[in-house]
Amino acid sequence: MKIRTHADLEGLRAEGDALLHSARPRICVGMATCGMAAGAGAVFKAIGEAATASGLDVMLVSTGCIGCCQQEPVVDVRMPGQGRVVYARMTPEAGERLIAALSAGELPAEHAMAVIPEPGSALPEKPQGLSHLPRMEDLPFYKKQQKIILRNSGRIDPRRVEEYAAAEGYTALERVLLHLSPQETIDEITRSGLRGRGGAGFPTGKKWDLCSRAPGTARYIICNADEGDPGAYMDRTVLESDPYAVIEGMTIAGYAIGASEGYVYVRNEYPLAIERIHHAIEQAGELGLLGDNILGSGFTFSIDVVRGAGAFVCGEETALITSMEGGLSEPRPRPPYPAVKGLWGQPTVINNVKTLASIPAIVAKGADWYAGIGTEGNAGTVVFSLVGKVANTGLVEAPLGLTLDEMIHGIGGGGLDGRQVKAVQTGGPSGGCIPASLFHLPIDYASLSHAGSIMGSGGMVVMDEETCMVDVALYFLRFTMAESCGKCTPCREGTRQMVEILTRIVEGKADPGDLDLLEEVALWVKGASLCGLGQTAPNPVLSTFRYFRDEYDAHVNERRCPAGVCRALVRFAIAPGRCTGCGLCLRECSVGAITGEKKQPHRIDEALCARCRACYDICPEGAVEIAR
Ligand SMILES: Cc1cc2nc3c(=O)[nH]c(=O)nc-3n(C[C@H](O)[C@H](O)[C@H](O)COP(=O)(O)O)c2cc1C
Repeated sequence: MKIRTHADLEGLRAEGDALLHSARPRICVGMATCGMAAGAGAVFKAIGEAATASGLDVMLVSTGCIGCCQQEPVVDVRMPGQGRVVYARMTPEAGERLIAALSAGELPAEHAMAVIPEPGSALPEKPQGLSHLPRMEDLPFYKKQQKIILRNSGRIDPRRVEEYAAAEGYTALERVLLHLSPQETIDEITRSGLRGRGGAGFPTGKKWDLCSRAPGTARYIICNADEGDPGAYMDRTVLESDPYAVIEGMTIAGYAIGASEGYVYVRNEYPLAIERIHHAIEQAGELGLLGDNILGSGFTFSIDVVRGAGAFVCGEETALITSMEGGLSEPRPRPPYPAVKGLWGQPTVINNVKTLASIPAIVAKGADWYAGIGTEGNAGTVVFSLVGKVANTGLVEAPLGLTLDEMIHGIGGGGLDGRQVKAVQTGGPSGGCIPASLFHLPIDYASLSHAGSIMGSGGMVVMDEETCMVDVALYFLRFTMAESCGKCTPCREGTRQMVEILTRIVEGKADPGDLDLLEEVALWVKGASLCGLGQTAPNPVLSTFRYFRDEYDAHVNERRCPAGVCRALVRFAIAPGRCTGCGLCLRECSVGAITGEKKQPHRIDEALCARCRACYDICPEGAVEIAR
């Protein structure tokens, strides 16, 4: 059946609503890649088998990411008449016990993390016996979050369009196709203040407007889901958790700019995202939500999936287009910008996954609503993958303008194991390290840029006292060196030279002149490179130089790594007074450098020691000391 009329859409919504508010217990297991990596597959299987064995009639759903990736596997149980409870760090055995409790008519307390109230429904806010549980939105991790891009993540079944429709899906497309002209649609997006979430923050409405006015025989819309930054997984998660939002956003964009074809360019290493977007496109096509005469409007639009060529530079828009055309994925000079001359030489809008997933919410709720979120010039929300040495890791969506402190100490809960946070790296390999002394800064495009970093696509890596900032700069430079396409000399040769100098520094072989040379090369690469990869590659060096110069000086002038990370510059020793002779370090040492009798203080042979830190990390007494 094709969805052609408002009544058809309402029918689809009713089907979805019946699933979301089922009369049976609805058990949603977070099965995006983060959940799967934590063992959600086994939990899902155990719950399914236990339910079948006990004869309990449940609705078992594999959803996307619920956000608190650190608490995975996460299971959200909605029990009619009782309430909705989220369970954290589930195991297959706990899943079996969950079914046993549900069979007895109870929501168990074991592994329970929070309740999710459903205002306006008949569902009690807190189930009997679980009144001590906080509400999900009151947990420190969620308190300052506002979900627009991730509005359906972990909530709906990403394989069922009817659930997406029931969660206000296709409201925006209906409004656009039946009530707005293409130009009015563009104006709505312009008024909302949405800026592209792929990194540079270019105003989305302006990009659409430029494209719609550019001469051409065809127009295209491309969803950029290449996402190659280390530590970043926001776009993958959106595709895995809510693919229909991206499809609806692309369809609206297509209508606005006059395109009838769209492409999702997705990283080949994202198999689950590829599978889910493929399925969603197929299902939308079967229902007529893609294809000819969408919602009876006469508008035709189709979407194809292109698997990315597996290089970081493929995310750069001109390299991405060249790769789609079958060429070597190298960037080309701009202008002309893709909005004017893009795929096959035709006007093309390239937008990030999160930009496109924001569109349906903006159109459905209106530009003014969206413009009212965030701060002046920085409307709306951003999604960060908060990772590194921080207590709470996961996917965070918050309004722009939230301070770094609110993000890292509030939502993130501060340093891991109570350690002091030293800095945060935003923007992936193109970004910079911002010191804790600047955590009062708001998270917005201009503030991060003034601080020497960038907003980027949403990677946020937290660092503490045990992070060496020179080592961090080297890590990112090695990445950009390996990912440089080699087309332009400044990037190809400059990143290699920076890696060589940084390697000398961490190995204790540099002289003071190397620091000046490093800065000179960094500025040269920044100024002379052809594309954003080279232009931003020096950021990790320049920002750590600006804020952590003392660490560089210690490495070069004193042959010392203050964080105790750089192997060539640290020595390990066991404090005899603290060592209990438990033998853990001896067994852990892979090079046999540790000796000692049981219950007697152990020793490290410096000549054999590989300085891998394994003894330091495993010692329960803190007896292994690092001479920094
Ligand atoms: C080296 C490099 C890699 C990039 N990778 C991505 C990416 O993975 N995803 C993305 O959306 N944008 C990426 N960009 C930015 C894109 O070129 C482009 O600006 C973006 O897709 C536009 O979408 P937006 O307007 O929605 O932000 C990258 C840029 C550079 C220089």
